[in-house]
Amino acid sequence: MRQLTLPDQINSQMKHDPDTIHLAVAIDGPAGSGKSTTAREVARRLGYQHVDTGAMYRAVTWKALDSDTDVNDSMAVGRLAYEIDIMFVNDDGSPKQVLVDGVDVTDAIRSAEVTRNVSVVSSHPAVRAAMVRIQRRLARRGNVVLEGRDIGTVVLPSAEVKIYLDASSNERARRRLKEMEAKGSTSSIEDVRADIERRDSYDSSRETSPLRIPVGARVVDTTALTIDEQVNAVVATVERVRGRLAAARVAPGGQNPVTREKPFYRFVRLAAWFTARLVFGLRVIDEDRDDYAEAYLYAANHRSNGDPPVVAAARERELAFLAKESLFDVPLLGPLIRKLNSIPTARERFDRKAVRVALKWLQEGGSLLMFPEGQRSRSLELGEAKAGVGYLALRSGRPVVPVFISGTEDLWGALFRQKKLTVAFGRPMRLTDPENTGTSSESCHEFGKMVMAALAALQDEIEPGPRAG
Ligand code: DC
Repeated sequence: MRQLTLPDQINSQMKHDPDTIHLAVAIDGPAGSGKSTTAREVARRLGYQHVDTGAMYRAVTWKALDSDTDVNDSMAVGRLAYEIDIMFVNDDGSPKQVLVDGVDVTDAIRSAEVTRNVSVVSSHPAVRAAMVRIQRRLARRGNVVLEGRDIGTVVLPSAEVKIYLDASSNERARRRLKEMEAKGSTSSIEDVRADIERRDSYDSSRETSPLRIPVGARVVDTTALTIDEQVNAVVATVERVRGRLAAARVAPGGQNPVTREKPFYRFVRLAAWFTARLVFGLRVIDEDRDDYAEAYLYAANHRSNGDPPVVAAARERELAFLAKESLFDVPLLGPLIRKLNSIPTARERFDRKAVRVALKWLQEGGSLLMFPEGQRSRSLELGEAKAGVGYLALRSGRPVVPVFISGTEDLWGALFRQKKLTVAFGRPMRLTDPENTGTSSESCHEFGKMVMAALAALQDEIEPGPRAG
């Protein structure tokens, strides 16, 4: 994509503005749940930018059909998704015009043919990677409402407000049919329902980013609601989250009470900071800005033993660490890391005792660094999260700050400035509806995936490559 809806937002850093809280609102749900109408109206009321991600997948589908590209050819469609130029115009709350390479396709992307083919097109990982990258850039400065199928889970796992709209398939078919009849279609309700159910099952069972309720989202069943009622429900949730954030925010220039450090910790941390900065040229990227009086669970990718000191050095607060048991037997290092709040953890199993100690530390208001993958990765690719991160996050209720570390795999390179040493802190992942979020093993597992998606988003910024998504 050469041109984007908001060119001024690309590559711009979020500015620290203490008077405003920039929110990203993620609205997910199946076809016909009322997402588009709700998202558009919510955005209009809040004065936010609205991004219809379904329209982006439809635009790619339209282009594939228009250029006689086989929609099953993932390579060809993926290439097309990287090159396509999608523009949304008319940002006044009315349905937007969609331009693809300058051609107005607003109506064409809603055709039955596009609708029939969009599930296949949107299931190709390369298509998703290209679209997700654009969507994250549009959302970077906040004040956005993104709607789709994977916004809260994959695109913006740190969105402050996550909504999942749902409705019975009967009701969704009835709504779709009404829309179609207004355009002169004569389909039957049975056909429309069958099509909706087919898309539901395809969208929920595909391998890449299936439709799921994001862990912690507020679920709104719209079957018996009017548009106005569902818009009100979303806006009320946004206001509640904004209130919660405002209450946790530290006044500009004020002292953040969670940043206390014991003298010995502070001494070692400052030594690590100067070493990392001056000797290894550490660069810190901060999306979270660390100005909330909250204890965090920091979740980082893991490439070397240099990771814990690099992360700790960059945070002006005392952290605890989950560290592998064998390190505690190393002369000098063992007693040192013990004094620096390290908790011995078995690597090959779910270590109940370590988890209990870590949970207690978090519940008492401490912050903790852990590596969700459980061990160092041999390659530069992110692996899967173990159960621990989801369990600790959901049990403690602490926001998770994703941390991406790059360069510790080659500290010699960093020393001689051939390689950049970088640590990036993402925005804290918070639960929109903590009261209704359980700690089932499935939720813990799904939340772990969301943490890895947040790490992937940071990696895509710092180590851009073909991977993305
Ligand atoms: O919301 P819609 O009907 O316009 O979406 C069209 C299709 O695009 C839908 O069948 C699934 C896909 N889609 C997706 O996979 N991920 C998104 N974030 C949005 C839409």
